[in-house]
Amino acid sequence: MANTILVGAQWGDEGKGKIIDVLTEQADVVVRYAGGNNAGHTVFLGPKKYVLHLVPSGILRKNKLCVIGNGVVVDPIGLVEEIEGLKKIGVKVSAKNFVLSETAHVVFPYHRELDAQREVLKGKNKIGTTKRGIGPAYGDKAARVGLRVNDLVDPIRLEEKLSVRIKENNIVLKSLGAKPLSFKKVFAEYNQAGQYLKPFVANTVVLLHNAMREQADILFEGAQGTFLDIDHGTYPFVTSSNTTAGGACTGSGVPPHRMDRVVGVMKAYTTRVGEGPLPTENAEISDLLHGMGREFGATTGRARRCGWFDSVATRHATMVNGIDDLAITNLDGLDTVETIKVCVAYRHGKKQYDFVPNDAQVLAECEPVYVEFEGWRTPTDKARKFADLPPKARAYLKAIAELTNAKLFIASIGPAREQTIFV
Ligand code: GDP
Ligand code: IMO
Ligand code: MG
Repeated sequence: MANTILVGAQWGDEGKGKIIDVLTEQADVVVRYAGGNNAGHTVFLGPKKYVLHLVPSGILRKNKLCVIGNGVVVDPIGLVEEIEGLKKIGVKVSAKNFVLSETAHVVFPYHRELDAQREVLKGKNKIGTTKRGIGPAYGDKAARVGLRVNDLVDPIRLEEKLSVRIKENNIVLKSLGAKPLSFKKVFAEYNQAGQYLKPFVANTVVLLHNAMREQADILFEGAQGTFLDIDHGTYPFVTSSNTTAGGACTGSGVPPHRMDRVVGVMKAYTTRVGEGPLPTENAEISDLLHGMGREFGATTGRARRCGWFDSVATRHATMVNGIDDLAITNLDGLDTVETIKVCVAYRHGKKQYDFVPNDAQVLAECEPVYVEFEGWRTPTDKARKFADLPPKARAYLKAIAELTNAKLFIASIGPAREQTIFV
């Protein structure tokens, strides 16, 4: 399969988990390179549903090495829970198939508390974060005051560094009217998690280069989506990492010239969870999808905002990520729609955009320009090859791939592995 970066081409929750699980069959190694447990990647194995937050979605396949790279921020308490949860349902997780980078940064309770307090302070301008402490943890990394996994697993270093961080953060928390943290309690809890995780910890950069020397095929599992990228997203309504393809290099230590292909995952419509502009947001399609019990967040359970497919956004995503191939998911969500709209440009006053303007305020004021497609109004979930799909569904897929400026590679018509059509 060669080295493949898989990214979300929209605002997250595109179905990356499902597609990673499918593509892992042909890979040897799966690497998470950015984000933290703000992610929620859903994988179905038969009727069994797994939601992965930090552990790569390749873990459900046997004999695949799953790696958390240096670019991820790790909540160790959450990670231990996730590993234990997987083991409880019969998924094998050992140092043989799961490795954690020693230089990944650690998320502490003060990050989560600050995340929540900042949202309160922002009032109506809040981001709508997952409150997992992601922003403050990446903030500490950039400010060079963060603790890394190799600090977490060394009790002496953990005690020394954590005590200073708790002292500083307690001053801030108290000034915000929040409860200060007990160093003793946090240390005890985190030291225990650190010792649990110690056997999994390694120099993942060297490990990945050794794997490549042995001709391993690596799949890079993006988290979040292009428009949640700290640089290329709808700032400030974004997450705090580089979710786009470049992040796979910095977040893993695998250089750009070793990357062979970029797969962009996108839904056949658009969703977003949290605040910020969403040009094609539409109440009718939101109600339809929510009425079917779909589009509720895998991490926070919040109802996702839904809208028509936005090809201005996905074309922009192709540009920023260098997307070669497309995996289009949730086609079946449109099975009952009579007339399907697709956004092909944005209008802003007298100006028309064929790319996503950088200014979130301008984007929020944009009016989508739509073209219409006749719906197929037939269930697609039983289709197993492209020819099984109704002609109008095929035409729709081809049109949105063309508008996105990348090749149609996969069409997904249900959450299960077998509901995947290779085009
Ligand atoms: P991720 O964050 O990109 O991994 O996506 P999530 O797991 O948060 O959300 C995607 C949702 O869509 C999950 O509930 C998946 O099980 C589901 N899903 C993925 N592909 C399809 C599809 O083609 N059809 C349907 N009906 N559900 C899908
Ligand atoms: P996956 O990997 C969808 C959103 C939050 C919020 C913003 C910032 O499952 O696609 P954060 O907690 O990161 O500071 O929140 O980003 N967000 C996601 N939305 N899918 C995700 O991950 C997300 N991770 C963060 O809702 O708007
Ligand atoms: Mg998700």
